[in-house]
Amino acid sequence: MKILVTGGCGFIGSNFIRHLLRQAEAYHVVNLDALTYAGNPANLEDLQGDPRYTFVQGDICDRPLVSQLMADGVEAVVHLAAESHVDRSILDAAAFVRTNVLGTQTLLDAARQAGVRRFVHVSTDEVYGALGETGHFTEDSPLAPNSPYAASKAASDLLVRAYVQTYGLPAVITRSSNNYGPYQFPEKVMPLFITNAMEGRELPVYGDGQHVRDWLFVEDNCEGLRRVLHAGRVGEIYNIGGGQECTNLALARLIVQAVGASERLITFVTDRPAHDRRYALRCDKMAAELGWRPRVTLAQGVAQTVAWYRAHESWWRALKGQAYQAYYQRQYGPR
Ligand code: NAD
Ligand code: TYD
Repeated sequence: MKILVTGGCGFIGSNFIRHLLRQAEAYHVVNLDALTYAGNPANLEDLQGDPRYTFVQGDICDRPLVSQLMADGVEAVVHLAAESHVDRSILDAAAFVRTNVLGTQTLLDAARQAGVRRFVHVSTDEVYGALGETGHFTEDSPLAPNSPYAASKAASDLLVRAYVQTYGLPAVITRSSNNYGPYQFPEKVMPLFITNAMEGRELPVYGDGQHVRDWLFVEDNCEGLRRVLHAGRVGEIYNIGGGQECTNLALARLIVQAVGASERLITFVTDRPAHDRRYALRCDKMAAELGWRPRVTLAQGVAQTVAWYRAHESWWRALKGQAYQAYYQRQYGPR
């Protein structure tokens, strides 16, 4: 099966490609990635020379390129390419609209014209907005995005829906909760806190630290995506959540403990505007239809992730270089 994966040099994409190529099935993966600041060829260095893997550097908004790739025997698309960081979308939303909305529409058009048999659109629980202390989002919950990132993802979800309805495009949407694990860019909270703790730097907790996220180990998401790719029903949405709710303050404490750093590094900083209080997903549909359940608990996943970042210090130190420092200082001021 020849699969076009977009954004395969990012965090989830690189884990997903490696996950696919570990299976017994004969996959050929073409990875289309623009290599933005978040795309890192080092994430898939081990696949260099593997005949089942082809890398193409390019933009999902490049219509001729996307059409040419799809026309070359692609059976399925798994679309992960995106601008993915909420804080960056608050600083400047333009790239989010371009990549997440226009890029998705470019891919949908090309997939339709090439007669692609399956299009998996990877989305997020953030499209549902925020929950209070109780309750869960189901696939039928209304869309109520609060950040420019979430709004751009919701817009792309609606385009996917419209292409299914209007053109019969065989597309499926996944909405997952917060992923974590190896190869996550150290601006997202989990790797930021882990690497800051390792460096003896502050862990900046936004607001009162009582915001709750539902943590999903990236391998669990990859297996969910693979099941949706093969057996998800056309036009359906599948929530993929870890079922591991945790406040940001409790997460910071878990991380300093796992790293062996001091709790004194935990610092409260100004809250993010429109910061969603809580996310939690009902994933009964994934369980009932596709037999999927998350396997990794937060405690196990954090231990594995800390071990990975410890063993791959040169990988993350290179990313916490100059360009990242400029962004980080714009975000938090000089530290
Ligand atoms: P990431 O930021 O780590 O990677 C994104 C990748 O897309 C990068 O390799 C980047 O170079 C590439 N890219 C960006 N713009 C592109 C363009 N115009 N053309 C081609 N490639 C481009 O993101 P991630 O965390 O791996 O997320 C992957 C997908 O999963 C995204 O669609 C995101 O919205 C979704 N998602 C992520 C999470 C999470 O917790 N990380 C949770 C739910 C959903
Ligand atoms: P993040 O990793 O940016 O993911 P998302 O906003 O997509 O959920 O943030 C996860 C949570 O951690 C979110 O509630 C914001 C919070 N956070 C901090 O408290 N400090 C930080 O430095 C960052 C980046 C996030």
